[in-house]
Amino acid sequence: MKVAVIGANGQLGSEICKSFSDKCEIIPLTHDDIEIIDKDNVYKVLTGIKPQVVINTAAYHNVPQCEQNPVLSFQINGQGALNLAKISNELNYKIVHYSTDYVFDGEKKAPYIEDDRTNPLNIYGLTKLDGENLIKNYCDKYFIIRTTGLYGKTLCRAKGGNFITTMIKAAKTKPVVKVVNDEILTPSSAAQVALNTYKLFNTENYGLYHMTCQGYCSWYEFACVIFDKLNLQTPLEPCSVSDFPVNVKRPTYSVLENHNLKSINLDNIIFWKDALIDHLNEIK
Ligand SMILES: NC(=O)c1ccc[n+]([C@@H]2O[C@H](COP(=O)([O-])OP(=O)(O)OC[C@H]3O[C@@H](n4cnc5c(N)ncnc54)[C@H](OP(=O)(O)O)[C@@H]3O)[C@@H](O)[C@H]2O)c1
Repeated sequence: MKVAVIGANGQLGSEICKSFSDKCEIIPLTHDDIEIIDKDNVYKVLTGIKPQVVINTAAYHNVPQCEQNPVLSFQINGQGALNLAKISNELNYKIVHYSTDYVFDGEKKAPYIEDDRTNPLNIYGLTKLDGENLIKNYCDKYFIIRTTGLYGKTLCRAKGGNFITTMIKAAKTKPVVKVVNDEILTPSSAAQVALNTYKLFNTENYGLYHMTCQGYCSWYEFACVIFDKLNLQTPLEPCSVSDFPVNVKRPTYSVLENHNLKSINLDNIIFWKDALIDHLNEIK
């Protein structure tokens, strides 16, 4: 099976390329190879490849930058998704498109399932929801995968790192590291998401899926495991979201339940702490 991976040198894209390489013919596409906001370029590149599956990990997802650049944000997260959706139908390939917990406002305070009402609080969330709707409305063979709190061996290009690298840097440069204890998420390893994406796209169960590790924690609890396992000696203290000035509104609760994966017996993703410990052992 020929699988084109867009964003192939990104945090998730690189993990997908690595984890599928013995199972499929992978065509890795970096931003130098394809520009998803350019319809003609998308058409030219993908008609040249003729893939059976296209996996789109490309996004504009630096949240404060999205707020400053709403037009670019809609172009990449919305128009880019539309370009891929339209050509997917024409060339009859399956499309896998990633989205985010930020389509929710966090007010539910219980794990969100796929059918829950969306209500994004910022431009990033709004434009990712736009992308989801365009994919749903313009192609048939789609898998939209919402995930949260990603970390991987390759750093997130849009953010220049991930929470783990931020903690390592903070421990080296600050006398005390303070991390919020009242914002709840599920840290999810790119390796787990890649593995489970493979299982999903080999089915014909098209639709919208939540795909995160099991369980949840606060950012502070996430940091505690990192400090403990990497033996970081700098004092780590909990604090509140209200201790920081708010430039962009974000959901303070964004736990997703893998409800639709469960319904097709594909929710085999491991607990967040186990995935994190595996990852920390590998990068030590
Ligand atoms: N990171 C998280 O915590 C998180 C959480 C929830 C959901 N997600 C979603 O997961 C997906 C993958 O995230 P990630 O962390 O792997 O991101 P990433 O490391 O920033 O990778 C994104 C990739 O897409 C490429 N790209 C960006 N704009 C493009 C464009 N217009 N045309 C073609 N390629 C483009 C980037 O290349 P350049 O860098 O060269 O531009 C990069 O290779 C995204 O859809 C994101 O919204 C991420």
